[in-house]
Amino acid sequence: MQKPIGITSKLLFQLPILISVLGVFYEKNSGTGSDTPPLSASFFQQSLPPVSGFNSFSDTTLLPSSFGFGRPATQAEIDKLDIDVRPDGKGLPTGSGISSRGKLIFDAKCVACHGAGGIGGPNGSLVTTTADAKEKRPEKTIGNYWPYATTVFDYIRRAMPFNAPGSLTNEEVYHLTAYLLNANKLIDEKTVIDAKSLPKVVMPAQKLFIPDDRKGGPEVK
Ligand code: HEC
Repeated sequence: MQKPIGITSKLLFQLPILISVLGVFYEKNSGTGSDTPPLSASFFQQSLPPVSGFNSFSDTTLLPSSFGFGRPATQAEIDKLDIDVRPDGKGLPTGSGISSRGKLIFDAKCVACHGAGGIGGPNGSLVTTTADAKEKRPEKTIGNYWPYATTVFDYIRRAMPFNAPGSLTNEEVYHLTAYLLNANKLIDEKTVIDAKSLPKVVMPAQKLFIPDDRKGGPEVK
């Protein structure tokens, strides 16, 4: 085995290049029947002088456990970001909503972009109409394309209104969710939407989606 000779401090700056060149050398020589022994990690450690405190770029044990920046996040800060809602309803907060209250909020905060009753509007319909049912390629909306009702709550809470995301209270989001589900004829106007009832609303589009239950391995392409 040839050792790299005469490593100067200038050469050390070229260490990453050197390592990749040696890596290729290793690749070429291992397992090919050649009698050159493979290069090991200890080869790098033994042959190189220490570089400002640590002598191997792959060895992180010598790094300090903390760099002294920042502070642990508070529970309140984590809760503010940890707002995802799952199809089974996990993550839904307390509170409840009904369609009639949702209509008032919708008319004040959503109608400009999504049209009266959630139909039309510059940023797209949220409600499937009977005319849509006759179309070959109808506009995709909550009623004909969303597989889970809980996503309506999750999406509105995190992203809407577009010009002020995060500004709605959980109660307002429940009312709006009830309104949009009712407008899509998926619940009646009396249904109270909350953490228990929302996951039970079965969306027409659920059957259009196939859960990806592959475990990994060669079948995953
Ligand atoms: C300033 C315009 C604006 C306002 C106001 C607004 N939205 Fe939106 N909305 C958008 C835009 C733009 C999108 C598409 C965003 C994207 O695709 O990333 C969208 C998408 C949506 C979607 C997803 C539609 C789909 O099928 O993909 C829902 C649901 C929704 N908005 C609900 C609401 C509700 C409820 C309100 C009122 C609280 C609201 N929006 C207010 C602009 C707006």
